[in-house]
Amino acid sequence: MRKTIPTRKLRWTDLNLSTIGLGTWAIGGGGWKFSWGPQDDKESISAIQRALELGINWIDTAAVYGLGHSEEIVGKVIRRLPDKPIIATKCGRVWDRDGNIFGRLKKKSIRSEVEASLKRLKIEVIDLYQIHWPEPDEDIEEAWGAIADFIKEGKIRYAGVSNFSVEQIKRIQPIHPVASAQSPYSMLERGIEEKLLEYCSKNNMGVIAYSPMQKGILTGKFTRERVQNLPKDDHRRRDQRFQEPELSANLKLVEDLRPIAEKNGKTVAQLAIAWVLRRPEVTATIVGARRPSQIEETVVAGEWVLSKEDIATIDALLKKH
Ligand SMILES: NC(=O)c1ccc[n+]([C@@H]2O[C@H](COP(=O)([O-])OP(=O)(O)OC[C@H]3O[C@@H](n4cnc5c(N)ncnc54)[C@H](OP(=O)(O)O)[C@@H]3O)[C@@H](O)[C@H]2O)c1
Repeated sequence: MRKTIPTRKLRWTDLNLSTIGLGTWAIGGGGWKFSWGPQDDKESISAIQRALELGINWIDTAAVYGLGHSEEIVGKVIRRLPDKPIIATKCGRVWDRDGNIFGRLKKKSIRSEVEASLKRLKIEVIDLYQIHWPEPDEDIEEAWGAIADFIKEGKIRYAGVSNFSVEQIKRIQPIHPVASAQSPYSMLERGIEEKLLEYCSKNNMGVIAYSPMQKGILTGKFTRERVQNLPKDDHRRRDQRFQEPELSANLKLVEDLRPIAEKNGKTVAQLAIAWVLRRPEVTATIVGARRPSQIEETVVAGEWVLSKEDIATIDALLKKH
């Protein structure tokens, strides 16, 4: 039976998102530039089904995840569902036959990307369509205009941006109102606290926080050995947070967080996610999972409201970190 978890309204839109959305980057599978190593499609499908059973009502994907594969897997699961989850996907990253990835935001390219995503996802309308990266910067207005046309045609309901600065959002607002900004936010990545959260709040825009567990390092389940043994095509091998000197500092932070989680009967992964959700400007956070057990654990964080004391203790730890 479907459960429910708290929802927050994506500000001026009528989308009510569960505070946790399912992230499907890793589900794109192995063998491409930004893969997370080999992934069994059957396990991916089970993870998505379990997330929906647990009350998660939206899925974040992108055309480029697995070079189309993540969207295909999501499409496979939702195809026969009478009550479909909210689907958020992204454009602006294209690839060639050799798997080289480029940022492209020309109108013609966006138009073919929308059609391809609809096909892979097996849906007629995309609920939230996001420009994945503002690259190349000079084409963001052109892409946004193309997306606004699709909204008029009824193939997209709402549009948002991802990895945009406040200045870039201001440039496209006059063309069509921006529904949401998707950006990284975790205890290890707090850039959006400087300007973006305030801008979105003032302009009644939603904020979608990605990588709340910093790609897994804040789950409490990483060790030096595990990092060394990551599959050859797991892009985290090239991520500085998984390399020295940051790795040791990050593992130490996790050990300092553990007693705070345990005192509350929770895990470090749950703490990392609840910490992101403590900010009222954040509509929801996207939590990645590649097997059912992972989302079973993390979904619990959607209902956990951290105490003021715990927030203060974590702040002090992060200052030291
Ligand atoms: N717009 C963008 O540019 C952008 C960028 C990044 C992410 N995103 C979106 O945000 C989503 C989430 O971010 P993310 O996947 O980068 O990072 P994340 O949610 O911080 O971490 C997800 C990873 O942590 C591990 N994990 C998850 N639950 C776990 C558990 N219970 N126990 C142990 N390990 C667990 C899994 O990897 P392992 O099992 O392999 O360790 C999983 O793939 C993505 O899937 C994507 O939809 C968007």
